[in-house]
Amino acid sequence: MIDASQDPARRLYGRRKGRPLRKRKSGLLETLLPGLELPIPQPGDRIDDPAALFPRPVDDVWLEVGFGSGHHLAWQAANHPQVGVIGCEPFVNGVAALMALVDEAKVDNVRVLPDDARPLLDALPDASIGRAFILFADPWPKKRHWERRFVGPQNLPRLARVLKDGAELRLASDDMGLVRWMLEHTVKHPDFEWTAQRPSDWRVRPADWPPTRYEEKAIEAGRKPVFLRFIRKPRG
Ligand SMILES: C[S@@+](CC[C@H](N)C(=O)[O-])C[C@H]1O[C@@H](n2cnc3c(N)ncnc32)[C@H](O)[C@@H]1O
Repeated sequence: MIDASQDPARRLYGRRKGRPLRKRKSGLLETLLPGLELPIPQPGDRIDDPAALFPRPVDDVWLEVGFGSGHHLAWQAANHPQVGVIGCEPFVNGVAALMALVDEAKVDNVRVLPDDARPLLDALPDASIGRAFILFADPWPKKRHWERRFVGPQNLPRLARVLKDGAELRLASDDMGLVRWMLEHTVKHPDFEWTAQRPSDWRVRPADWPPTRYEEKAIEAGRKPVFLRFIRKPRG
């Protein structure tokens, strides 16, 4: 599916809709989402203070791109109540799944852009995000589709701009082609430093990193996930 945007740089690949939603989840999209939803930033829009998007003071703001069914995001929000967590996900079934988790956990520190993360990245201020997660991003295995991969030359500068000095960028995948690609582009980017002491560290799941739905499916299918952590280097 390609969205209606005429700008190739803004074209979004992937599904926006899946199976019809059950009544509870479609109801939550009507009742819960409107209070948590961020408007899609338009070119030139600026968010002056992302912390002010939350209903009470937060110490930091984290961002998850492509949260899928939202389990990781909901866990981070529940386990870090002092942090505001923004999630971006264009797949409506994923947004509905997150709404169910937010409703159950009664967390108030989640905000959602039910759309492409890139306009949000462009609207956020410099050095405003304390941690970013991009977990099991679409691998786009065919070479002619590699430029669609989210972590790459288009979006790493966006992430470097919005991440605070010393902020963590967390990436994961079970697709070794994508792992190699993400490592190659992130390691050579001047603003990021890989935290691994040894390459084998990438198999070690950090304690504060719960599995996502895609990770669970990958493990069931016999594939091994890789966890990559980068630090946004301090600005000059
Ligand atoms: C393979 S799924 C992984 C979902 C989840 N992170 C997990 O591990 O279960 C990748 C997700 O990224 C989302 N996605 C793709 N491009 C995106 C973009 N530009 N902005 C935000 N999300 C995006 C897709 O809709 C999809 O849900």
